[in-house]
Amino acid sequence: MTRLQEETSSCAQCPLRQGARQVAFGEGNPCAKIMIVGEGPGQEEDRLGRPFVGPAGQLLDKILAAGGFGRMEHTYIANIVKCRPPGNRIPTPSERASCLTHLYRQIEIVDPVIILLLGATALQGLVKPEGRISRDRGQWILWENRWVMPTYHPAALLRDVSLKRPVWEDIKLVVARYRELVDANHASQYC
Ligand code: URA
Repeated sequence: MTRLQEETSSCAQCPLRQGARQVAFGEGNPCAKIMIVGEGPGQEEDRLGRPFVGPAGQLLDKILAAGGFGRMEHTYIANIVKCRPPGNRIPTPSERASCLTHLYRQIEIVDPVIILLLGATALQGLVKPEGRISRDRGQWILWENRWVMPTYHPAALLRDVSLKRPVWEDIKLVVARYRELVDANHASQYC
């Protein structure tokens, strides 16, 4: 993973790198059984070079903790694009396509059993170009021999608290599958 991170830090495959302070490659346990994929770095992620460290990331940490998952212990977190799109706009199809090569290699290295996709860009960018998050969330997709669960992006929850319940339902499905496929004794305070 370190070599891939080095290679990615000097990537110039798309124009996003020019506007970004640094590459937010990804972090967590490279042997994790759960991989989490978001959209792309925001302001705080760009400043620190780490994924999901701003307000949405803090909420993500709480959601994971409620399922008994520690970000650095049980998961590896990455994004569809590794460089911040200007003004936090949605990455274009060509930016996504050029960055996807890095994500595929991360997935190959981590080799997760479960992938949690956060939001429409992650769903459409990785597994289902015609996907709709409001329709597809909460339903398992078997993709490349991995179980993929799409759910709402935590930034959407910050704007609309009514999305908290469906996200929690989705996390409970992830916990159940994790117990089934990875660790029957996985402990969670809430489910
Ligand atoms: N939103 C994302 O999709 N990814 C991050 O890393 C931070 C916010």
